[in-house]
Amino acid sequence: MKIDIITIFPNLFSGFLSESLLARAQKKKLITIKTHDLRKWTTDNHKTVDDRPYGGGAGMLLKIEPIFRAVESLKFKVKSKKTRTILLSAKGKTFTQKDARRLSKCDQLIFICGRYEGVDERVAEYVADEEVSIGNYVLFGGEVASMVVIEAVSRLIPRVVQKEESIKNESFSDKEAKEKEHPQYTRPEVFEPKVKSLKTKARKWKVPKVLLSGNHKKIAAWRNQASLAPKRREEWRRRNTE
Ligand code: ADE
Repeated sequence: MKIDIITIFPNLFSGFLSESLLARAQKKKLITIKTHDLRKWTTDNHKTVDDRPYGGGAGMLLKIEPIFRAVESLKFKVKSKKTRTILLSAKGKTFTQKDARRLSKCDQLIFICGRYEGVDERVAEYVADEEVSIGNYVLFGGEVASMVVIEAVSRLIPRVVQKEESIKNESFSDKEAKEKEHPQYTRPEVFEPKVKSLKTKARKWKVPKVLLSGNHKKIAAWRNQASLAPKRREEWRRRNTE
């Protein structure tokens, strides 16, 4: 898969792309990810990417021309029908695991990172195939949001994640996958912090006994019980770990 990111802050991506599993995926040629400075597609001396909104109002909007040229030229380089152009914006449709699965089957994803107070609406109308938000809150721009989408999509591409984890994910619905997530513990069996905790009076923080029992049937039953929705989990935790 080829992933192209159009942004006015390409440097924001350097750590993300070089320090994670994504670096390995790129080395193994499973994914190619390229960031592109939107200013590259401007035609004036000042490399102008934004302008004031018609009708007035605070702030500046990203202009359509450089974005249109960027998308056209990046699409042309891949020449596949399985391309999706995604505009990240707070007013988009909320991204889900289902979207991640759908997008992971594409040959090319082009991300347009919105900035400033917004983007000329014609980008959403005529250029992007979809407008995506990562949640009900407002960020400075689409850069971090695009990283979220890229990470969720990449781990579903075969061989990016070792083990059968990604395959397991395919076979469950989003809700089911969440319910399979039971609490997990590793050594030590008992942790005794030397300083007082503000959160709890408990001095010995223990791993639930059943997990140390070696009884696989009991462990499975416990895990089943423990895989609750977050709201009920807090209550369950109080009853079972104090
Ligand atoms: N840009 C600003 N806020 C955003 C959000 N919640 N999701 C995607 N892009 C954004």
